[in-house]
Amino acid sequence: MALRRLQDRIEQKQAVIGVIGLGYVGLPVAAMFAQAGFAVIGVDIKAERVALINAGRSPIEGDEPGLAKLLAEVVGNGRFQATTDYNTLSQADVVLIDVETPVDEHNQPRYEALRAVCRSLGPVLADGALVVVESTIAPGTIDGVVRPLLEQSSGKQANEAFFLGACPERVMPGKLLHNLRTMSRVCGGSTVATAVTMTHLYRHIVAAELDTADPITAELVKTTENAYRDVQIAFANEVALICESVGADVWRVRELVNKSPYRQMHLPGAGVGGHCIPKDPWLLAYGAPDVPLHLIPAARRINDEMPLHVAGLIFDALDAQALSASPARVAILGFAYLANSDDTRNSPSQILLERLHELGVDVVVHDPWVAGYQSDLMQTVQGCDAAVLMVAHEAYRDLDLAALRNALRTPVLIDGRHFFDAAQARKAGLVYRCVGQGAG
Ligand SMILES: NC(=O)c1ccc[n+]([C@@H]2O[C@H](COP(=O)([O-])OP(=O)(O)OC[C@H]3O[C@@H](n4cnc5c(N)ncnc54)[C@H](O)[C@@H]3O)[C@@H](O)[C@H]2O)c1
Repeated sequence: MALRRLQDRIEQKQAVIGVIGLGYVGLPVAAMFAQAGFAVIGVDIKAERVALINAGRSPIEGDEPGLAKLLAEVVGNGRFQATTDYNTLSQADVVLIDVETPVDEHNQPRYEALRAVCRSLGPVLADGALVVVESTIAPGTIDGVVRPLLEQSSGKQANEAFFLGACPERVMPGKLLHNLRTMSRVCGGSTVATAVTMTHLYRHIVAAELDTADPITAELVKTTENAYRDVQIAFANEVALICESVGADVWRVRELVNKSPYRQMHLPGAGVGGHCIPKDPWLLAYGAPDVPLHLIPAARRINDEMPLHVAGLIFDALDAQALSASPARVAILGFAYLANSDDTRNSPSQILLERLHELGVDVVVHDPWVAGYQSDLMQTVQGCDAAVLMVAHEAYRDLDLAALRNALRTPVLIDGRHFFDAAQARKAGLVYRCVGQGAG
């Protein structure tokens, strides 16, 4: 009965939607529900972020098509308001949870944020409300963590006085709104009726398939998706190392492999970062501690070692140049984990920087999107012994290779993303090395 009423309120757009956690995922979701005509309350513990959002300004700095404009619009027309005050959620018919879910140094989930949300939400949760966890969580988390905590803090029974589900997000920074609109979603409800109600909700912002499932299936789909991607990237990276060793070109090999039907070999490169891929395989594994794991940890290790491999390429190239100056000075181009993004979480560039420091190298960093590294590119590389492209930011597309060569003290260019044309770089007088290409 209560769910029927909620479905009606969703259909009529009378339902008030709360979104907890206004980061890369929660902010665009909140803005899109507001755009669809719902009243949306966003809750975040960061007062500065809340103030920025209420001023109609997006705290996300990367190239995020449409987000800043949409946010200004929905804050301007009063449909979306942000706050640090959980009490406002007592009006919410639906509450979406979008907080971070990292792992610790032992690859165990760190659910401090998720637990804190459950403890704060329970006391204000309205009767008949639907709570949906959009954060990526290990299989079994809804039933093992979220449900007991919410029942305890609210004094209400799940599936009776409130309803619970998992609907993991699939977005990528740089395409947040586009992904939200066009990617299918798994609506994992604690009961079939809850899952169906979730499809009614998401239909307002998603123009793609909405599949119903139970929460553990939804949790598994998301973590499997990203673990699968990590394994595929690790495979491409291992082939890249083989190609380098035998003096071949992995990029040409990949192109030809992918002419065979259904192969789709992934892109190798200088490492994998972000809030998702480096930890989601561990969340998947955490769900089944009795299963001996081989492939997933191996893939994590291979991908984590790629920035260290890049450090090796730098040293090889500098050795071949019989570098006289000491210490060597290296410029890292790109500090975000992803092209055209400002997100630096688990950035491979950070791992490279630490390794170079350990080896006594002076390091300077440039990134057009990351605060603190946005100084003039040519001034940054001036007098360096190598420039290392770690992130394929479009802003580097027009880099004048002859000017780069003149700015460098030693003309070494290391390409971690197969970004530059090797022939052009060599024509400009640069010693060019690329991940996955033999020294040639
Ligand atoms: N970033 C991505 O590309 C992406 C894509 C798909 C899924 N995800 C998943 O979505 C979830 C969120 O990721 P994100 O990148 O948006 O994280 P984020 O760090 O950008 O945002 C999380 C927000 O939650 C807020 N928060 C933390 N604790 C809180 C609390 N107790 N109450 C209210 N707010 C609180 C933080 O202040 C922050 O603003 C994670 O589980 C992640 O794995 C992320």
